[in-house]
Amino acid sequence: MQALKGFKDILPDEARLWQRVEGTARDIFRRFGFEEIKVPILEKTGLFARSIGEATDIVEKEMYTFSDRNGESITMRPEGTAPVLRAFIEHALHLRRPINRLFTVGPMFRHERPQKGRLRQFHQLSVEALGADHPRLDAEVIAMARQLLVELGLKAELQLNSLGCPDCRPAYRAKLVEFLSGHREQLCEDCRRRVESNPLRVLDCKSANCRRLNAEAPAILGSLCAPCDQHLARVRQDLDALQIPYTMNPFMVRGLDYYTRTTFELLTDALGAQSAVGAGGRYDGLVKQLGGPDLPGIGFAMGLERLVLLLQEQEQAAAAGPDLFLACLGEPAAAYGFTLLQKCRLAGLSALMDIQGRGLKSQMKQADRLHARHVLIIGEDELNAGQAVLRNLDSKEERQVALDDELTALLPLLQS
Ligand code: HAM
Repeated sequence: MQALKGFKDILPDEARLWQRVEGTARDIFRRFGFEEIKVPILEKTGLFARSIGEATDIVEKEMYTFSDRNGESITMRPEGTAPVLRAFIEHALHLRRPINRLFTVGPMFRHERPQKGRLRQFHQLSVEALGADHPRLDAEVIAMARQLLVELGLKAELQLNSLGCPDCRPAYRAKLVEFLSGHREQLCEDCRRRVESNPLRVLDCKSANCRRLNAEAPAILGSLCAPCDQHLARVRQDLDALQIPYTMNPFMVRGLDYYTRTTFELLTDALGAQSAVGAGGRYDGLVKQLGGPDLPGIGFAMGLERLVLLLQEQEQAAAAGPDLFLACLGEPAAAYGFTLLQKCRLAGLSALMDIQGRGLKSQMKQADRLHARHVLIIGEDELNAGQAVLRNLDSKEERQVALDDELTALLPLLQS
């Protein structure tokens, strides 16, 4: 018997990293004033259709939906925001505190095509702050997401966008539809359909043709109304005040329809194609839309599997050998190599050389034993020619590199 495709056992060695991620997250969430809420895995299907949106990939084709024994349509939650908001409304938590800061941890289910970092049962740390539309809350929530990565020693790029509000988005949507309709033949089949059903999703399409076209599409940031524009400016100001670096990505759209104004993603390319370790945004109309009071909110979710994968890669990298082993033949080459070694180290690379003047064969053996990623061999000829052969010990690939003073050719090869 085997587990279902896209469903994964977490064995004890890996569970250790899960505990570290969850423990760090819980500590940070506490420091930011967030409290845990636990909500069921199963909900009525309508909850997700109404919140995530009928025309999203999640609702259209990824949900685990079935009829229970009473014939009621039930769905295994594909995300945490809708169930937490349902509980917030059902228990009138807004009466408890003016701003409720909530988080939940647990499994989510999406019938996606499994690949590295993408599962059908995955786990999220899911966070919601309900009750204020002040831009400072956006900056605070983003700061908390980033702090988790910082304290786990992980790197990700923060991208920011605003998706406007019901006042300004319709005009942008119309502008986008007009642009896309004029270039319909260049869109992929899915996107031709999306022009009517969900045009903003076209901006997120991964197909090469759509991407080329999207680069010329009108950007939403030029269409924001004054209040949304000011809101975004204030969020940016507060992020700057907290010294949180970010880049604006006016083409970032999210896979869920409930977002208004601020949206953000924490992206890494360490998991193959660039993918999000965490993402979120503001959803000011959602509580009301689900039958609750008219209260704004903002949140995000981080994928636990993706965080754990990044930690595993980090551990492997730490166990790996130096980026460069320098094999030098003869004293003039060794003297030159000694300065080259220093330049590599100052550029952030780990580099070693033999300082006992041993022969080439034993130096190569030493490089192997150290699990060095590259070897550069410098003898008298190389010194005179100003270039040497760099050998990648993993791929066995060799290439000539020029040895100029700034090591302009060598450093990027070692850093890649
Ligand atoms: P999301 O972007 O759909 O947002 O998912 C958030 C994170 O969950 C992703 O960045 C990724 O790390 C992880 N994730 C999503 N799908 C998978 C999968 N199939 N396998 C592994 N990891 C996955 C939401 O779910 C929103 N509810 C976030 C939010 C909370 N917005 C406001 N509040």
